[in-house]
Amino acid sequence: MSATAQKKAPMPMDIRARKGGEPLVSLTAYTTPMAQMMDAHCDFVLVGDSVGMVLHGQPSTLGVTMEMMILHGQAVARGLNSAMMVVDMPFGSYEESKEQAFRNGARLMAKTGAGAVKLEGGVEMAETIAFLVKRGVPVMAHVGLTPQSINTLGGYKVQGRDADAERVVADAKAVADAGAFAVVLEKVPEGLSDRITAEVEIPTIGIGASAGCDGQILVLDDMLGLFTAFKAKFVKRFAELGITAEEAIAQYAADVKTRKFPGPEHVFADVLPKKDA
Ligand code: KIV
Repeated sequence: MSATAQKKAPMPMDIRARKGGEPLVSLTAYTTPMAQMMDAHCDFVLVGDSVGMVLHGQPSTLGVTMEMMILHGQAVARGLNSAMMVVDMPFGSYEESKEQAFRNGARLMAKTGAGAVKLEGGVEMAETIAFLVKRGVPVMAHVGLTPQSINTLGGYKVQGRDADAERVVADAKAVADAGAFAVVLEKVPEGLSDRITAEVEIPTIGIGASAGCDGQILVLDDMLGLFTAFKAKFVKRFAELGITAEEAIAQYAADVKTRKFPGPEHVFADVLPKKDA
């Protein structure tokens, strides 16, 4: 093996061991090129079911299927070397029974090479999480705002304000006790996120939570400014690639119409230059 051997991708237990240490870095990815760009910078990459809204124009994550997650998981896997890949279990693929959850979790891992799956839910999913973990499917949990439940939660609201706070704490503790190796806290108030981070033994991964979480995650297309249908308060745009892309497309259209494109450097000569005798 060469001295410059590539860094090995962490395993769920390595992510778990980062509790209280340097913050874990994570983004979502859905394609090979984007996975390649983030590989060296992220500890883990999530193939999120946000893919339905971000890439497929769906109105929520509810229409995402196992086939979509497998296809995008396989694409992302081709772009990763040193980051662990986690794949989201889509709505309807795990809630019915722990056996259904195992069947689909195992299928996602086998088909994509993911190191773990992520599923939404707290106390009500604890038994399922324990069943999966005991059978070789590492689970990242997701509590607070769980977008697959918007119809019962009443929309994309902050979770855990006032009387609701103890429910979110109980959810985070239940998934940790069940054996999840990390838990995503989405749209949970800052103080409550800090309390959960202090009280649970697994890393908390914040999205709209607190800088005090053990790690952070954002949807890639949100932070690059590529997804512009709406912007949640918790999104920081680190670039405005949507604007840059639209400007480039407009310039292309103008160049085609004025015959500036293609230029001489983009076309092929009819006759090849003669070689010296
Ligand atoms: O689907 C997704 O992208 C997610 C993250 C926002 C945590 O679940």
